Amino acid sequence: MGFPSSKWISNLLFCCFFAGISCNSVEKKIYLHLNYTFPCVRLLNATHQIGCQSSMSGNVGVLHVLESEENLDWVLSSGPNPPYMVILDAPLFTRSIMMKLKSSSGRVAGVAVVAPNTNPAESFSPHTTCPNENTGVYSETYGPAMANCNMTVWNPLGNGLSYEEFDFPIFSLKDDNDTRVIRQCYLDHNQAVNNSTPQYPLCAMELYSHMFAVTDTATCMRRNDISFSISPEMVCDPLGDYNVWGSTRPINNTVKGHKMWENVVIAAARLDSRSFFYDIAPGGESGVSGFVTLLAAAHALRNATQEAQPNRTIVYTFFQGETFDYIGSSRMVYDMQNKQFPLDLDNIHSVLEIGQVGLRADSRLWLHTDPVSRRNDSINQEVEELIKNLHLAATNLSVTPVAPTVSQPLPPSSFQRFLRAQQIPGVVLEDHQSEYVNRFYESMYDNAEYLNVLYPSDLTPEEQLKFITASAKALTEVATLVARTLYMQAGGAESLLSSISADPQIVTQMLYGFLVRPNNSWFQELVPSDFTSHLSDRPPNMYVGAIQQPSEPTLLVQYLLANLTGSTVNVTQEDCQNQREDKDDKDSKHMYTYVWVQGAVPPNSTEREGFCVRSSARLTKAVSPAFELRQFTTSEYSTWTESRWKAIKGRMFLVASHELEMLTLGVGIGVLLTSLLLTYVISAKADILFSSGREPANATY
Ligand SMILES: *[C@@H]1O[C@H](CO)[C@@H](O)[C@H](O)[C@H]1NC(C)=O
Ligand SMILES: *[C@@H]1O[C@H](CO)[C@@H](O)[C@H](O)[C@H]1NC(C)=O
Ligand SMILES: *[C@@H]1O[C@H](CO)[C@@H](O)[C@H](O)[C@H]1NC(C)=O
Ligand SMILES: *[C@@H]1O[C@H](CO)[C@@H](O)[C@H](O)[C@H]1NC(C)=O
Ligand SMILES: *[C@@H]1O[C@H](CO)[C@@H](O)[C@H](O)[C@H]1NC(C)=O
Ligand SMILES: *[C@@H]1O[C@H](CO)[C@@H](O)[C@H](O)[C@H]1NC(C)=O
Ligand SMILES: *[C@@H]1O[C@H](CO)[C@@H](O)[C@H](O)[C@H]1NC(C)=O
Ligand SMILES: *[C@@H]1O[C@H](CO)[C@@H](O)[C@H](O)[C@H]1NC(C)=O
Ligand SMILES: *[C@@H]1O[C@H](CO)[C@@H](O)[C@H](O)[C@H]1NC(C)=O
Ligand SMILES: *[C@@H]1O[C@H](CO)[C@@H](O)[C@H](O)[C@H]1NC(C)=O
Ligand SMILES: *[C@@H]1O[C@H](CO)[C@@H](O)[C@H](O)[C@H]1NC(C)=O
Ligand SMILES: *[C@@H]1O[C@H](CO)[C@@H](O)[C@H](O)[C@H]1NC(C)=O
Repeated sequence: MGFPSSKWISNLLFCCFFAGISCNSVEKKIYLHLNYTFPCVRLLNATHQIGCQSSMSGNVGVLHVLESEENLDWVLSSGPNPPYMVILDAPLFTRSIMMKLKSSSGRVAGVAVVAPNTNPAESFSPHTTCPNENTGVYSETYGPAMANCNMTVWNPLGNGLSYEEFDFPIFSLKDDNDTRVIRQCYLDHNQAVNNSTPQYPLCAMELYSHMFAVTDTATCMRRNDISFSISPEMVCDPLGDYNVWGSTRPINNTVKGHKMWENVVIAAARLDSRSFFYDIAPGGESGVSGFVTLLAAAHALRNATQEAQPNRTIVYTFFQGETFDYIGSSRMVYDMQNKQFPLDLDNIHSVLEIGQVGLRADSRLWLHTDPVSRRNDSINQEVEELIKNLHLAATNLSVTPVAPTVSQPLPPSSFQRFLRAQQIPGVVLEDHQSEYVNRFYESMYDNAEYLNVLYPSDLTPEEQLKFITASAKALTEVATLVARTLYMQAGGAESLLSSISADPQIVTQMLYGFLVRPNNSWFQELVPSDFTSHLSDRPPNMYVGAIQQPSEPTLLVQYLLANLTGSTVNVTQEDCQNQREDKDDKDSKHMYTYVWVQGAVPPNSTEREGFCVRSSARLTKAVSPAFELRQFTTSEYSTWTESRWKAIKGRMFLVASHELEMLTLGVGIGVLLTSLLLTYVISAKADILFSSGREPANATY
């Protein structure tokens, strides 16, 4: 940008003269504040930063709607008005295009991806091909031939975009009227017709998502410490939430460490998921299918474990943050090793983990085991026993457990973190033999539609909640299999197996609640009244987050586990909230938790009838031990942190030419300089200028 030429100066004079009229075009005409936008944010680990951000004042670019990959030339080299804000339809949100945009050296101001309202026909996974490859059990010292997915690549469709770093903002837009306005603005103002250069004013967009943290976790934690001593301004927070757990027999939660007479079977599932964008991680197949199955199994076991208590206790665990290098399970194992959990690793008899189980083809369910620990005869025997129980439990069910024919490592699973600490027999249930059948692993499309949780179009929300979908029926079978297997693992009698079966009604309601709408009449009944405002009308976001408080999905799972495995007790609201059965009771809180839930509205009444639920469902911290130990560069534990930011927003407007903007700036500076000069001249020559009206300073009367 050179100095304004004479033409511009005359323009400027004209502009200043008719201030109200022609200078208006210089002002940005705001068209549209983007309301339903989801950003990609910055995350950091021990060595890297990933994700996206804008500059401190937001990134502005001329809109360009990309029509195809060939069309990229305009953005990358030939377009005359860089930087560009690129609008992509979801099918163009590919690694190839994004990497070209990434290396565009400043010609890209940002990207907005228009998320479709229905899932694409092809596959899409922005995750890595080998999830959590460095923090599982396989390493140079443990089954080296299986480390780094050498033997089985679990997520071959993964394009790794979620783990790239972009120095421009990337937002997702809902495909609605706003996007129509954006496209129209582009067509009206920016489209190059017959290779002519589009004329100003042009349609532009500003995206603002400046991130405070840079470089890596150690750096940002250091800056946290420094800034904390000056002002409580943090730059990043550890990813983390809470794990949920409960047991078929109450366990004294106040006494930590090894319990002499406890021998427990752990039934595990994971709670969290992620996607490229911050707030849309439905985690249907990757998370919901597994933990809904486990909750339904726990429900199916309530009667049997109360009436004919087997010798071993079954412990249900739901892990948070597993997506980010096993935050939840590594923390629980760490707590067990350090006497901060009411059980330790020696209390564990065996582990049954429920992975992705929502997409079974031909009714088969695959039993994954660890070939390394099975080289030990006694472990192998226990694993064989568990497999035998699974086969037995499947009698008369339409689900067939099958062991993979080739020896292969465990898929990414929480169980790997237990094996890392100690040899424990266990099996991981999955709907895939080797690579994932999930085409949308850790993406925004892993949703209700993908799991086929769909309803006839004429149903009211209340009818949808109750409607038993085919997917619910299929998962109910898996839940029954899991429940019966756990019962036998716990030492229960085979003769009682046929009395244990999961309830399709409960399964379908849970799928509705977690994949369609948490704010439904059933969930409202089983949560405390102060939680009702957190029940949303959108599918919950399963991204673990960094808020240090239990998230909506975590609490929902806890309340569900309490309802499905606990019992109602006739206790006043006050005693219930004080964790006791009556005024003198000081002991129950060690064994149980009490929740006063809203309950239903009885017929002919307007008020809900609350009641007290007693259960063993509890929360434990799911924050990586790396932050407990302040080892921010460790490779043993997850080190993921999330950057803080001030605001996330976007808007669209028309810009006059870049030159004109610079001119405005020039004029501003000119006016400033002139006024400075004038002030100087005036004050320097003040005695001359104002002498007539002034008395001599030394005048005395
Ligand atoms: C977006 O938000 C702005 C300000 O909050 C509001 O005025 C506008 O109506 C909203 N637009 C839509 C489409 O909801
Ligand atoms: C990967 O596996 C192959 C056999 O499948 C083996 O020959 C090779 O050594 C392995 N590579 C590593 C690095 O372990
Ligand atoms: C941090 O994340 C990057 C990007 O995914 C990865 O390449 C690197 O190995 C991770 N570092 C550690 C210590 O896990
Ligand atoms: C979108 O536009 C259509 C037609 O212009 C209109 O009927 C509809 O109400 C609009 N939707 C929203 C959410 O504004
Ligand atoms: C573009 O070029 C075509 C063929 O050269 C011509 O028919 C058409 O009118 C042109 N359109 C505009 C808007 O100039
Ligand atoms: C649980 O442990 C606490 C602390 O040792 C003890 O006071 C309490 O009596 C125990 N409760 C039961 C039921 O064993
Ligand atoms: C559990 O037992 C109760 C009463 O004994 C019965 O009403 C209920 O149907 C049983 N539930 C299951 C899942 O078997
Ligand atoms: C369960 O415990 C009882 C009493 O402690 C014992 O008699 C029985 O043999 C045990 N059953 C199994 C299967 O271990
Ligand atoms: C096999 O595992 C058992 C139980 O973990 C252990 O006590 C035993 O020492 C192991 N045997 C070998 C040969 O490692
Ligand atoms: C679970 O919730 C249902 C429906 O609100 C309720 O009828 C039942 O009593 C609850 N059970 C427990 C143990 O809280
Ligand atoms: C609950 O307890 C109260 C007072 O202790 C008693 O009056 C009431 O009948 C009990 N309700 C039930 C359902 O047992
Ligand atoms: C509710 O009220 C209606 C009319 O007042 C009455 O007929 C009905 O029996 C009531 N039902 C209950 C459960 O009290």
